[in-house]
Amino acid sequence: MTGRVKVSGSKNAALAILPAVLLASEKVSLSNVPDITDVRTMLRILEGLGVTIRRRGRNALDFYPSRLRGHALPYSLVQKMRASSYLMGALLARLGRATVPVPGGCDLGPRPIDQHLKGFAALGARCEIEHGLVKLEAEKLRGGHIYLDVVSVGATVNLMLAAAAAEGRTVLENAAKEPEIVDLANFLNAMGAVIKGAGTDVIKIEGVKRFGGAVHAVIPDRIEAGTFMLAAAATGGDLVIGEVIPKHMEAVTAKLREMGAEVEVAPEQIRVRRKGPLLSSDVKTFPYPGFPTDLQPLAMVLLTAAEGTSVITENIFEGRFRHVDELKKMGAQIKIEGRTAVINGGGTLSGAPVTVTDLRAGAALLVAGLMAKGETILSQAEHIYRGYEKIEEKFSSLGAYVKPLRERSSEEVAREPL
Ligand code: EPZ
Repeated sequence: MTGRVKVSGSKNAALAILPAVLLASEKVSLSNVPDITDVRTMLRILEGLGVTIRRRGRNALDFYPSRLRGHALPYSLVQKMRASSYLMGALLARLGRATVPVPGGCDLGPRPIDQHLKGFAALGARCEIEHGLVKLEAEKLRGGHIYLDVVSVGATVNLMLAAAAAEGRTVLENAAKEPEIVDLANFLNAMGAVIKGAGTDVIKIEGVKRFGGAVHAVIPDRIEAGTFMLAAAATGGDLVIGEVIPKHMEAVTAKLREMGAEVEVAPEQIRVRRKGPLLSSDVKTFPYPGFPTDLQPLAMVLLTAAEGTSVITENIFEGRFRHVDELKKMGAQIKIEGRTAVINGGGTLSGAPVTVTDLRAGAALLVAGLMAKGETILSQAEHIYRGYEKIEEKFSSLGAYVKPLRERSSEEVAREPL
């Protein structure tokens, strides 16, 4: 693949910022919002709660504060997306109560929310789980000292949302440091919150009584950018990936250089070229700024093309190897031992019909299909649309052959929300 690609706004920043819109008492304008299925689902949830939304363009939306219609969420929407759990923190902050079905999401193994609930209790909320519903209630949220047992992006987001409106000071220790957390903190502060330390493992939050409006641009998607960086090395391309924040992809840049790819970093773009053979390398996933678990499936695809044996250790999710069986159908030589995958690289993948099990596995199988000899058909490809905007157009513009097998019927397109 050769050419230039512009990544969309960050899915995971947008999915954290949209629930925070519930706190605003004045108009909120968001730009660089990715037009992906998960965002459309979140918009439907907000509309269902009574938020007035005006779409100003494909990636720009205005939100008008309104009386909320309630504090309970529809199971049909919530079970599609784990990020719906963020509405627990936002509704607690806004209404002092929330009823949210226990969140679903990608099948990456157990997705507990014990840290979220432990934090809400520390802020004075009562919590019970019955009939698959998480019911939270707090006469008044009071600041507290919370030490997360696990570095959790979701728990950090949820507890920032609740603590922002709690009375007094909250200290969140062992917090996640992902750029999406920083983007949420910047958005909340633009609305009048007082949050310091986002991006470090100690976040201090002084609760406030009222939130104004804000104008905010969502940060670029570092996982989409990393996807294209790894895809360029995997297919032997020369790719310029635009309007990114290179610092957010430092772990990927370092790993690609270690594997022999050439990576040039400029202030807002990264260029990846593959000149010679790829070298085997070991990859260990860790919370930011470590190598992101969301790019582990893509790193695995790349390593099948590297000379020699590589080992991937997945330290974040215990079930995040479901793409391995699919890659084996394409001739990859991979052996799973607990949380590690041993890849014997150097072979050539062969096209095959494969099944997409989750969002990032789908992106990995798409790239594997571009590397393979012959045709690859991805079934359940809709997983990919959850997190990648205009994915076919982006890859096709770079010379890749990626086509939806069937055009979505007009009814399907019409049924899409907002
Ligand atoms: C967020 O998921 C992202 N999703 C994931 O991206 C990402 O893979 C993950 O963070 C890690 O970076 C969104 O931002 C919407 P965690 P989240 O809580 O919040 C354990 C994608 O493809 N844990 O940081 O669910 C958990 O089991 C998605 O864009 C607890 O034990 O991840 C996991 O092992 C996939 N108890 C680890 O922490 C809890 O209460 C990290 O999970 C919460 C989490």
